[in-house]
Amino acid sequence: MRYPQKVLDDVCRQVDFVEYVKNFVDLKPSGQSWVGLCPFHAEKSPSFFVSPGKNSYFCFGCQQGGGPLSFAMKVTGRSFVDCLKDLAERANYTLPVLRGGQKEERVNRAGLFEVMKAARDFYHEILRSREGQEALDYLLGRGISKESIKAFGLGLAPSDWDRLSHFLSARGFSTSLQEQAGLIKKSQKSGKYFDLFRSRIMFPVSDDFPRVVAFAGRTYKPGDESAKYVNSSTTPIFEKSRVLYGFDLARPFIRSGQVAFLVEGYLDVISMHAAGLKATVAAMGTALTQDQVNSLKGSAKEIQLVFDSDQAGLAAAKRALPLLYNADLDGRVIRLPSGHDPDSYIRKFGSQPFLELGQKAQDLCDFLMEVLVSTNSNTVTGQGRIISEITDILSKVPDLAKGQFLRNRLAERLSVSAKLLPLKKFDDLKKAQVLVKPLPPVDYHPLAGRLLELLIVYPQNQRFITEGLVEVWPQDRTKVVIEDFFNQIKENQGQAQIRPEGFLHSNDALIESLVAKALALPPRLNPGESERLVESIIGKFTQQAEIKRNKEFTEAIKRAEAVGDYETVNKLLAAR
Ligand code: GTP
Ligand code: MN
Repeated sequence: MRYPQKVLDDVCRQVDFVEYVKNFVDLKPSGQSWVGLCPFHAEKSPSFFVSPGKNSYFCFGCQQGGGPLSFAMKVTGRSFVDCLKDLAERANYTLPVLRGGQKEERVNRAGLFEVMKAARDFYHEILRSREGQEALDYLLGRGISKESIKAFGLGLAPSDWDRLSHFLSARGFSTSLQEQAGLIKKSQKSGKYFDLFRSRIMFPVSDDFPRVVAFAGRTYKPGDESAKYVNSSTTPIFEKSRVLYGFDLARPFIRSGQVAFLVEGYLDVISMHAAGLKATVAAMGTALTQDQVNSLKGSAKEIQLVFDSDQAGLAAAKRALPLLYNADLDGRVIRLPSGHDPDSYIRKFGSQPFLELGQKAQDLCDFLMEVLVSTNSNTVTGQGRIISEITDILSKVPDLAKGQFLRNRLAERLSVSAKLLPLKKFDDLKKAQVLVKPLPPVDYHPLAGRLLELLIVYPQNQRFITEGLVEVWPQDRTKVVIEDFFNQIKENQGQAQIRPEGFLHSNDALIESLVAKALALPPRLNPGESERLVESIIGKFTQQAEIKRNKEFTEAIKRAEAVGDYETVNKLLAAR
């Protein structure tokens, strides 16, 4: 099932696109538009334009362009449907439920966000109350300041079985909503609901709006032998593989420095931020995922992975390397002295030495090779093991060019011929997302793009959009656009102005870019000049269409003559 074009158009028109882009690009007003540094290629002077009226963007540097959907997909690396849902939510637009779609659509997401926010406030108040003294002392004792507690919204889940539930119910939240949010659970024995988090310091986890979507709860009482952390389970608003802890607070800082620090623990994130290293995020206590890396891609150029030991680092690096390369991000590795994690390191040495470690950080690829070589013996078996590890990593970089560079580089480090590193079939090629595809080769008539531009930029030229023009238009991928323009005019009895915005999310990157460019261009020609240009291009199209028809005619005659089909020959000649 697919969403109707009208829905896509409405969402893209209604969302505050400039606000959205500002999450990823520093935009400055410039005339009718906003400009900034393009997030899709490296540049020093801004050539990335956003037109608020049209809700479109175009980069005059790399020619990427389109509307909100195309931007969201490229910059976040998320799927079409995810981006559509996200934009719809931002636009306060209720997406229709697709027939055959999952029930998920009926979930009260807004209610879930509200109940999570109420729970966060509840936990936070408890931590600030007398009852929270012991937990507060624990945090302060660990060097977590009151400012950090506030900035991260830390809280305390009381020891009672059902205090949160009572509080939320009194506020009008149904038990079913509380349960769906993963805050309470029904006891099998008594049939009563109980709070899932008890006697724990609570770390709210936010999505990138930011809204509270989950909690992590840490033990703090001496002698509490239960699991150190308990995380919210998966809910309709939370999937741990898609969220990075601290990202909502870190994003502006990542964007300004283009570097993100990736650490392991929640407390590491908080300490780093407190020390001024605010471009820091953590995965949710699980292995890094492609979704998480992709979400950094819109803001960062480089990720610095902070590892506390080479052994833990090796496993994490092996996993991270293909994910980073797939998202076009550079990776470097900060190795802390043994026994230290970022939290303890910064507490002992301060942020300056940490930054120095960051400046000297080793390239991820080099780190990987160094550890592989040092942990495997210099025997045939050992070398063989290294090669198979590398083969495994290479198989996860589906981009051919990058895969080859990586292969050559690894071979060089190992002092073996690259031929020894087999080019394994990419097992998860389909799954792996190759993001921001380069624009497809220009398989369209060079003048077709120019003519579309002239029709969009100069509305008075729209009188040239006739059935005749559609007929002589080259048979290329731009033809759908002129056909659509013609239909729009037909439907409006030749009156209303054509609306090209629908092509800003056309699933053809070339068309998106062509239309976005036309929408971004200010009119520079006077009406007479632009008309003459249009006429001359249409003249060319007419000529070429004529030549093509003649050629087809001659060939048809030849074919018919070759098989002695004179009846057809006569018919063809008569029809001329
Ligand atoms: P401290 O031990 O208080 O310094 O917290 P930390 O956040 O630094 O934790 P640590 O370095 O031990 O672990 C890193 C991350 O792994 C944590 O932030 C959690 O995300 C995760 N983690 C650690 N222990 C557990 C656990 O018992 N259960 C779960 N689900 N996750 C855990
Ligand atoms: Mn720690």
